[in-house]
Amino acid sequence: MWKEIEVSILNDLSEVESLSSIEREAFGDIAWSTDILEGELKNPFSKALVLLIDGRTVGYLLYRVIEKEGELLRIAIKPEFQGMGCGKLLINSLLKKLAKDGINGLYLEVWEKNEQARKLYQKTGFKFLYKRKDYYKLGEHADIFYISLREACHDQGCH
Ligand SMILES: CC(C)(COP(=O)(O)OP(=O)(O)OC[C@H]1O[C@@H](n2cnc3c(N)ncnc32)[C@H](O)[C@@H]1OP(=O)(O)O)[C@@H](O)C(=O)NCCC(=O)NCCS
Repeated sequence: MWKEIEVSILNDLSEVESLSSIEREAFGDIAWSTDILEGELKNPFSKALVLLIDGRTVGYLLYRVIEKEGELLRIAIKPEFQGMGCGKLLINSLLKKLAKDGINGLYLEVWEKNEQARKLYQKTGFKFLYKRKDYYKLGEHADIFYISLREACHDQGCH
């Protein structure tokens, strides 16, 4: 079994290639390129959390915080590590961090047919807010979810 599990903020842009390779494995032909990831990480409001298992990068998430609200932009786990709780671990680490930083809540947008991702978000406490019709293309809608970190913290005793 795994010996060392670590979640850390990505500080070194030279590691963006490892995120890019997870993107390609997890998203296939809709993966973000290294250039898009690098561009996003150069945005002063954006950060990535990286999950390392026994020294190997197996997943990451990308988020933005502006003022007191956050947005989850992307999350991906290497296919052979999916369904083992890695996604939950990454999101829960982010929620804890943002709650400690005094952020009010976190939004995200997900393709309505991405069952795996929707379940992950529901399991980590996100609530459905509304649907954005034809967001991806005609007939492909996005669902917007939100979690209030004040409530989540109150329930889970984060402070
Ligand atoms: C979506 C994704 C990030 C989930 O991460 P994960 O590590 O596989 O998820 P977890 O193992 O933490 O599971 C969280 C919950 O999701 C659900 N889930 C996990 N694998 C599932 C599967 N294969 N089918 C349906 N639901 C699943 C379960 O309800 C699970 O909770 P439970 O274990 O308490 O029942 C990952 O599957 C992934 O990288 N997918 C491709 C990229 C993607 O679609 N990203 C999200 C859109 S930006």
